Amino acid sequence: MFGIDTQEEIPRAYLEDHAAWDDYIGHLWYSLLRFYEFSPSRSVIEIGPGASAKIGRALARVDYEGRLYVIDSSQKVIDALKPRYAELLPKARIEWICRPLHACHDAIPQGADFMLSNHIIDDMILSGAQADAPEGERVQDWAAAYTHVPAEKVRECWTLLAKDPARLAAAKRAAGDGILGAIAALAPRHVVFSQYPSSTLYDNGMAGLNESALAVFERLRAAFKTTLADNAAVQAILNANKNYGNEHIGEHVLNAKYWMLCRP
Ligand SMILES: C[S@@+](CC[C@H](N)C(=O)[O-])C[C@H]1O[C@@H](n2cnc3c(N)ncnc32)[C@H](O)[C@@H]1O
Repeated sequence: MFGIDTQEEIPRAYLEDHAAWDDYIGHLWYSLLRFYEFSPSRSVIEIGPGASAKIGRALARVDYEGRLYVIDSSQKVIDALKPRYAELLPKARIEWICRPLHACHDAIPQGADFMLSNHIIDDMILSGAQADAPEGERVQDWAAAYTHVPAEKVRECWTLLAKDPARLAAAKRAAGDGILGAIAALAPRHVVFSQYPSSTLYDNGMAGLNESALAVFERLRAAFKTTLADNAAVQAILNANKNYGNEHIGEHVLNAKYWMLCRP
């Protein structure tokens, strides 16, 4: 397993409390951003935070005061997150962009210092597959409280998609195209993405969604292979964190192959 095994038990809060887990992942983001000499005034594009403030917490650790563009296709998510970000990042100048990623190119100036996203690809696959569904039938619980049991709508959406290989292939392609298109159009100077497998998906019979997301992630890594940060250097940063003897943390979250740092 990657990371340090201090023989401590995983804090219960990590399993039960959104904020505590966000803080653990936020600290990883903070350490990885330092690899690119992140400073508080850099401009940042964040894609798909959901109800989570993982990247927000990383930025709070540097007393962030730059221009931050937060993209999320769900207005409910943005409404839930606005007060949290205002509290965490009182000096940041935040623009909230409620659109799908592929439709954001004219809303953000080119050449931001950083484009960041934590664990968005599985959700982009599902949301892309549902783009034509009536409002009430879409996966919609992204603004809801943290839980280790996926909502029935998420499961239903995945079950239908998994049964239709052509639709699944199209949703994966659209997710990859959406991210590559945004990087090409917005030309960020640095890109940092994570897509560690989700233990919630594995534990709830949705391993195929993890695998589909990883296939898209591999496509992204391959597209930027000449500018990717050295894997050993990224792993050394991740290895400085405790894994609590927990397989999901030690094998997935702290494994450099599930992180992508590059200068596209
Ligand atoms: C569940 S969150 C992802 C996980 C979150 N970043 C974290 O680390 O906990 C996914 C978010 O992505 C948003 N989303 C899904 N597809 C999107 C797209 N194509 N463009 C922009 N946002 C999207 C959803 O509205 C949702 O808020």
